[in-house]
Amino acid sequence: MVETTKNDGPAGEEGLREGEVAVPPPAQFDASLYFIGRIRTPWKRREECPKNARESEAVCTVELDPRWIEGLKGLESVSHVIVLYWMDKARRDLVFQAPRDYRERRGTFALRSPVRPNPIALSVARLLRIEGNTLSIVGIDCVDNTPLLDIKPYFASTDSVPDAAVGWHAKRKR
Ligand SMILES: C[S@@+](CC[C@H](N)C(=O)[O-])C[C@H]1O[C@@H](n2cnc3c(N)ncnc32)[C@H](O)[C@@H]1O
Repeated sequence: MVETTKNDGPAGEEGLREGEVAVPPPAQFDASLYFIGRIRTPWKRREECPKNARESEAVCTVELDPRWIEGLKGLESVSHVIVLYWMDKARRDLVFQAPRDYRERRGTFALRSPVRPNPIALSVARLLRIEGNTLSIVGIDCVDNTPLLDIKPYFASTDSVPDAAVGWHAKRKR
């Protein structure tokens, strides 16, 4: 069964905004994963967070579970890291949604909203320093204590696509 709503206005914690569509999730998960640490930020609530990684210059920290510390070897020479994290406060059943800051409805996979079947977020962050199992970074947009999934070096040579476009977003800004 597909759940839709005609209610307008801000969604409640479990509510839907007008025209949003939720679908029932599959009966079981296909994989499991490890939270390998936590991201510590100044923001306690979703509403306080930057909308994206470039919106704040706040220095935040990634606290890696010490069991994985060997995995940081070599990372000290890296200027920017891709941080993958788990948006643990997001619902997972919306396929069509109206994000708080846009209001226009779009398919989940056309958006960077944390609300998705697998609420995996990514940011490219500047790596300031590594002290033991703690990384200081600039460029993250999650609430304090958000679970960490992975850290990878950002390669400008292969990860950067300078002429990439998101048509609906460009139109919206005009
Ligand atoms: C638009 S998402 C972008 C996330 C990531 N930069 C990306 O592109 O995948 C960022 C927003 O997610 C929300 N958010 C932050 N931490 C969250 C969490 N732990 N669970 C659910 N939502 C979160 C906040 O409203 C924040 O402004």
